[in-house]
Amino acid sequence: MSDKTATLSIADPNGAIETIELPVYSGTIGPDVVDVGALTAQGMFTYDPGFVSTAACESQITYIDGAQGILLHRGYPIEQLAEHSDYLETCYLLLYGELPTAEQKAEFENTVRYHTMVHDQLTSFFHGFRRDAHPMAILCGVVGALSAFYHDSLDISDEQHREIAAFRLIAKMPTLAAMSYKFSVGQPFMYPDNSLGYAENFLHMMFGTPCEESNVNPVLARAMDRIFLLHADHEQNASTSTVRLTGSSGANPFACIAAGIAALWGPSHGGANEAVLNMLEEIGDVSRIDEFVARAKDKEDPFRLMGFGHRVYKNFDPRAKVMKEAADEVLAELGIENDPLLEIAKRLEQIALEDDYFISKKLYPNVDFYSGIILKAIGIPTSMFTVIFAVGRTVGWIAHWHEMISGSYRIGRPRQLYTGHEQRDYSPLEDR
Ligand code: SDX
Repeated sequence: MSDKTATLSIADPNGAIETIELPVYSGTIGPDVVDVGALTAQGMFTYDPGFVSTAACESQITYIDGAQGILLHRGYPIEQLAEHSDYLETCYLLLYGELPTAEQKAEFENTVRYHTMVHDQLTSFFHGFRRDAHPMAILCGVVGALSAFYHDSLDISDEQHREIAAFRLIAKMPTLAAMSYKFSVGQPFMYPDNSLGYAENFLHMMFGTPCEESNVNPVLARAMDRIFLLHADHEQNASTSTVRLTGSSGANPFACIAAGIAALWGPSHGGANEAVLNMLEEIGDVSRIDEFVARAKDKEDPFRLMGFGHRVYKNFDPRAKVMKEAADEVLAELGIENDPLLEIAKRLEQIALEDDYFISKKLYPNVDFYSGIILKAIGIPTSMFTVIFAVGRTVGWIAHWHEMISGSYRIGRPRQLYTGHEQRDYSPLEDR
């Protein structure tokens, strides 16, 4: 894999120079990587807080070009998948590497369909939470608890066990997510309806009641499916890297996904979609946008424009473009003209993209900027936004976990730059 080398020259204060040859690997597309494994033998580590320029693994699942605003799933552009595919077909693609035939797609959908129910004893976990518990707190707990139901029947070295775990997680996440919502509003849990599609079934479990037939708007179901699809995977982001690191210890996939959910919750990551809506509501009127943009630029103010900026995209996030189109479609379908929050969002985007601060720092709207507008229009409460993100991203987490476990891997164990005390002797209490 390597026909290039990098030479590292290290000059000590006395002028002596030591050189180390490091192999350079090239991928199919994207930046080359320098294999720095040999540095440990030389008594050195690389130093890269936040992994800004670190490739933690080799992967074939998703490719991002941040400068060009490109996102490929197994080589297919996200724009084409969002227009022509659906969430479960994209799940198949991410897991198996190819688009399914009609027969493979039907079989995959059928297998997911017959795993959507959860063990009835799981419902008792919900009743341990306060009614006002954040749905992400509930989801973290209940998905982790799935380990208790499957841990003993799961050999992660067995390909079939890994596949059934993938089906269980992809199928049960919408059910658990809807249960988190129903619990918070004091309504009875809804069973999945096997006659419905994935996103339609989720909206049925979210907003249906035992008192009447569900009647899910197909435009809203399509928008929900596209939101799941746009969140399906995104290379080695914080939560996916968490899943990989957790899985590298041999932890079961349910525990790994619970770890991914916890990592996603933060407002710098998946929690941003909830934070965007809260920010737009706090702005309240286009006349106050300049005030908030000024705060976002003020170094002394911790406020950031939520939904803007990205570690990798230094151009438009391609998902944000699709999300923006979907927002217009959904609002038009619902007859919501001039939605005040959408007006604020569009004006905020326009102002930010003309402002030198945002231009110089290459801060563009990301996937979270418009998703909340659609979710709110569909009737999803703000506190459920990151839960929706977690449902969509579950397949990405599982695909990366499976890619790692089915290949050769070692436990992830980063090192550090130590700047603490040198060795010193214990001082007795009376001497302190
Ligand atoms: C997701 O990694 C993924 O792929 C994530 C994701 C996925 O699908 O998994 O794409 C999903 O998490 C999208 C991002 C959602 N988060 C937000 O919208 C929160 C707001 N954005 C920021 O917190 C920030 O932009 C991050 C966390 C997204 C990126 O942070 P970085 O890469 O560490 O960049 P940084 O914080 O070092 O910012 C660089 C500069 C800084 O200024 P300087 O110190 O150089 O002077 O840009 C500034 C920051 O202050 N900046 C912002 C800003 N984002 C960065 N200033 C104002 N508002 C912002 N939103």
